[in-house]
Formats: sequence, structure tokens, C-alpha cells
Amino acid sequence: MTPERWRATCDYLGAVFGRFADPLDGQLETLHARAVSAGLPDIAVSADVGRLLMLLVSMSGSDGGGARRAVELGTLGGYSALWIARGLAPGGRLMTVEPEELHAQFAQREFERAGMTDRVELRRGRGVETLSSFLDEYGEGSFDFVFLDAVKREYSAYAVLAARLLRAGGLLVADNCLGARWWITDAPDPDPSAESDRAAVDAFNRWIGSPSGPFLAACVANREGLVVARRR
Ligand SMILES: C[S@@+](CC[C@H](N)C(=O)[O-])C[C@H]1O[C@@H](n2cnc3c(N)ncnc32)[C@H](O)[C@@H]1O
Repeated sequence: MTPERWRATCDYLGAVFGRFADPLDGQLETLHARAVSAGLPDIAVSADVGRLLMLLVSMSGSDGGGARRAVELGTLGGYSALWIARGLAPGGRLMTVEPEELHAQFAQREFERAGMTDRVELRRGRGVETLSSFLDEYGEGSFDFVFLDAVKREYSAYAVLAARLLRAGGLLVADNCLGARWWITDAPDPDPSAESDRAAVDAFNRWIGSPSGPFLAACVANREGLVVARRR
């Protein structure tokens, strides 16, 4: 596919698969621009990825309905969290983890504006430590859904902890599994930081895609690549 056709395809996906049809759509449509004006980086998922997250969450509960307990690593301005919250079962809860105070404060205001604070709880902290603390707090097999969108170099560490936190049949989803400012199939990147991210995500993909590992996984090749994996 040519780069022009790829860009046009991404625009098409956003236009056709990026809306849901409730009043929250209006808030989500302006969230990216408001977040960037407030000084947050422009690195949130796209609308079509948001809708895919909602759909996956809505079928990841143990009864085939929405998740009852979910966790997201990397809140940023709360965009993906609001999509995830839409897919939860009634009474379900998303814990979203963010260490940057500017991002956390912006996201918390978005959760309040959306009337979602009964469903979304912001945990200030880092991914590895917070997932480890959830093992003590809630126990093994206590989550239905995990979304990874924080530090790419830590994806393998997150996934090992997520394998313990998820119940059998629960879902792990991870963003940027094909690329970000690097691309997975490129030659080694001359920028050591980009190359370190690329190599770390490659190692994560190979681990989670392994036929003998704890997950049954596939990679959806839209945008920057989304791994979707079911805990065996
Ligand atoms: C790609 S952005 C998340 C985008 C968000 N999921 C969305 O689509 O709306 C990554 C976020 O991870 C946060 N972050 C950085 N280090 C982290 C860590 N160790 N644990 C959890 N989050 C981290 C960053 O501050 C940033 O807000």
C-alpha cells in the first residue's frame, strides 16, 4: 500500500468507524485539540481505535458482556479511558494509571465533565508498580481487561504482570505494536531511543505471539498496530 493510500485509509476509518452516537461523542471530538492546547503531547489513540477498544471491552466480561474490572496504563488526557468506560458492564470500573500530574489533572476534569467518575478511577503512579500493587489489592485472575499504552520498553514487564492479573478468557490489548516514530519492520533506527523502543516492542510481540505462551494473540494492523490477546 502506498503512503498516500494508507493515510486515506486512516482518514476513512476515523470517519466511518470513529463515532458511537451518544452525547459523549461531542466531548471526545474536541478532546485532542483541548489537550494539546493545555500542553499535553498529541499521542492519543485515534477515534477508530477508541471504538475498537470499546467493542473489545464490551465483550470481555466473564458472562460475555462488558468487563467488570479493567486497567489502562497511560491515561494522557483520558481519551482512550472514556472509550473503554463506554464498554464496561453496569457497575464496572476502569482504573487508569498516569504518573504525569499535568496529564492526570486534565484527564480527571474530562472524567468529571463526562459524568464518568463512578466508572473511571485515576491512579497516579507508574505501570509496573501499580500492576504489582493490584495483585496484592485484588488478587490473581481478578481483571477482565488490560490496555497497555505507556512505556514501550516496559511492555514485556506489563504483560507478565497482566498474565497474572487477568482471569482465563480476559483480554490484553496493547497499542503501538507496529510502530510510533519507528516502524517494526524497519532496519535498526539510528536514534538509540527509537531503536530501543522498536526492539522492546518486537520482543513483546514475539513473546505474546508465541504459541506456547499464556496468551492467544493477534495483531490488528490498523494505524500503529494493536495487539489483541486472550488469556488462556
Ligand atoms: C501514549 S500516551 C497514552 C494515550 C492514551 N492512552 C490515549 O490514547 O488517550 C502515554 C502516557 O503514558 C504515561 N506514562 C509515562 N510513563 C508511564 C509509566 N511508567 N506508567 C504509566 N504511564 C506512563 C505518559 O505520561 C502518557 O500520558
